[in-house]
Order: sequence, then C-alpha cells, then structure tokens
Amino acid sequence: MRIPPFKLEEFWKKYEFTAPYLLCCSDAETWELQQLLTLADPDSLKLWESLNLGYTESPGHPLLRKEIARLYTSLNAEQVLTFAGAEEGIYCTMRVLIEPGDHVIVIDPCYQSLSTLAETFGAKITAIQLKSEDQWNLDLDEVRKAFQPNTKLLVLNYPHNPTGTILEKKVVEGLVALARKSGAYIFCDEVYRYLEVDESLRMPSIADAYEKGISLNVMTKSFGLAGLRIGWLATLDTAFLSEVGAYKLYTSICNSAPSEILAIMALRAKEKILQRNREILLQNLHILEAFMKRNKQYVSWVRPQGGTMAVLKLLLPVSVEDFAEDLVRSEGVLIMPGSVFDLSDNFFRIGFGKKNMPEILKRFETYLQAQGRRYATPH
Ligand SMILES: Cc1ncc(COP(=O)(O)O)c(C=O)c1O
Repeated sequence: MRIPPFKLEEFWKKYEFTAPYLLCCSDAETWELQQLLTLADPDSLKLWESLNLGYTESPGHPLLRKEIARLYTSLNAEQVLTFAGAEEGIYCTMRVLIEPGDHVIVIDPCYQSLSTLAETFGAKITAIQLKSEDQWNLDLDEVRKAFQPNTKLLVLNYPHNPTGTILEKKVVEGLVALARKSGAYIFCDEVYRYLEVDESLRMPSIADAYEKGISLNVMTKSFGLAGLRIGWLATLDTAFLSEVGAYKLYTSICNSAPSEILAIMALRAKEKILQRNREILLQNLHILEAFMKRNKQYVSWVRPQGGTMAVLKLLLPVSVEDFAEDLVRSEGVLIMPGSVFDLSDNFFRIGFGKKNMPEILKRFETYLQAQGRRYATPH
C-alpha cells in the first residue's frame, strides 16, 4: 500500500540533527536520565535497578497503565493501552476503525498522520479549515454541517499543533453531542495537554467526556521525554481497545522494558516534571510576546493558548520557504514553513518549549531585522 510522504516528519529527518539552532521544536525541554533518576520514588528506583530486559506485557506494564489511568477522572488501568510513542497509537486506531467508504471529519491544519492515515485506509475526509482571521478557532456550526449519516470519526487535536488553540468546554460538549447523535467516535490527540497557558482553561479529556471518546497522549511532548517512545490510548470503549490491542501484536508487540520503568518514574513525579516544563514555556512565551511587539512590522501572530508552538506570519515580500531556507543555511536557525502543514500565506511555526529558545530567538531577530531593512531599502 502506497502512503503519501509525511511532510512534517520528512522535514525533521532532513534538519533535526544537522541544523544547530532549532526554533520550531514541539516537545518541552528534554530531561536527562540522571535528572529523572533524582526525581524517582524508592519503588520505581528499585524497579529500575532490578530491570529485566526481556519482553514486556503487550498492553503495557500494569503499574504504568495504573499511573496513566490516574490522569483521567473516570478510567481504570484496563481502559489504557500503551504504544511506541503517540504515532503507533494513531496508526493502530486508524487501522482498526477505518473501513473503505467511512466518513471522517478532521481539522486543517493538523498533524498530518491524523488525516492522511484515515484517507489512506479508505475514508472520505471532510477537512474543517481553521482560519487565522477567526483566531484559528473551530466553528461548531461548521462541524455540525460536516456530519453525514456514515460519519465514523471526528478527529481532534487540542492543544492544537501548530496554532496553540484550545477549545472552550462548551464547544467540547457541543462536539460530544454531535458525535453521540450520529454514533461517531471522537479521537482527540491530547499530546500537549498540561501545557495550557491558563490551566483553568484545560479541556476535559475526551475519554472522560464521552463514552466513544478516545484520548491519545504520550511522554514525548508535555513531559519532555521523547526518547522513551511511550504513548497510550485511553477510552471507556474496551471493545475498541481490545481490537487495537490485537492490532498492536502486528506492530511493536510490546514496549521497551527500560522505557516503561522510566515512564512509571516520570508519571509518579509528574508534578515536578510538568512544573519545570511549564516554567520554561511560560517564561519563553513572555519573551516571545515582547519579540512580537518589537517586530510587528515584520511578523504577526495569534497568541497561543496552550502547547509549545505558535504560528507566525511573515510580512516581508519574500516567500517563507525561501526565507526559511536562507535562514537555516546562513544562520543555522530552523523555523518550519507552513507548507509542511499545507498552509499558504507565508505562515510558519515556531516552538518555545526549550531552554535555549531565547538565545535562538535573538539570532532569528537579528536575521529578521536585517531582512526587514533590506526590503525597506529601495533597490
Ligand atoms: C499532534 C501530534 N500528535 C502526535 C505526534 C507524534 O508524537 P510521538 O513522536 O510521540 O509519536 C506529534 C509529534 O509532533 C504531534 O505533534
């Protein structure tokens, strides 16, 4: 089966380990093993020291599933299934749910696999276009109009990559009511959960809000532990979960044993882990706001409400692709052109979850202002 190139991941494959200054990362500041071990509780430290490197239980270590279930208000460990990262969870879900001819509603822009996989497996896609002039907000009426008798699935991602928007609770309730009426599943990619700027605006997890809601999360983004490759699905729909579990036996079979123990350790220390990551993020957002004010003749934006990223619009008379290419070649600074998300109009993504972001932003600002002066000077 042929599958279209995954534009965003191809972009990372090209630049992630060659460009010195990454200004478009989506994960929070990464933790080092030694730092994580200092946060460990005595029990998980014992698990680490007596680590067995054999196969692990396919659904995930029982203690890991138990810690994950505690992140939800109405779930137990049996309602959680773990995967190699979020991506395997997306892949297996789409494989299990989608049959040729199904109708699926997605939002656009989105993390590409959320829509490409459903389409590749035979679904007819309706994409709801988010617009910068609407502050990238999702219009409930548009979703209502998109529902069809054969709608199998509504795919969401909040906090949203790349715009950083979140949904108001009453919009979530509206979406659940629409899905319930038509018997559709809602799959919500919640990998940036816990990084809302205003924590009081955190959305309910879809697994808690809806009996056919499937929540996706991972240690990668908000927790800053991408190398663990531990992700999970959480849902009240155990029939779906057991089908996905059967599918996983054809993909990774089970998780990496060291990663499971480190994920248990991290989840038990989640307050400290998230607090550090949020502190870096909020400080960086502050710096970014000042940058946006200083450079408003060159760039505009919709301030993000959550997650680690923002979409900016380049206001110079040059294509953002050419701008980004020259920026990385001459200064080593990497931004992500909107074309990776099929966005036109000179949009680009930047990330602000990393500790070195302020220093990289300075390099970016120097380049941006030099380009600004260049285009201001009559040729
Ligand atoms: C919205 C979203 N979902 C899923 C993923 C994949 O996460 P992972 O690398 O943990 O598989 C990403 C990574 O960028 C993402 O942004």
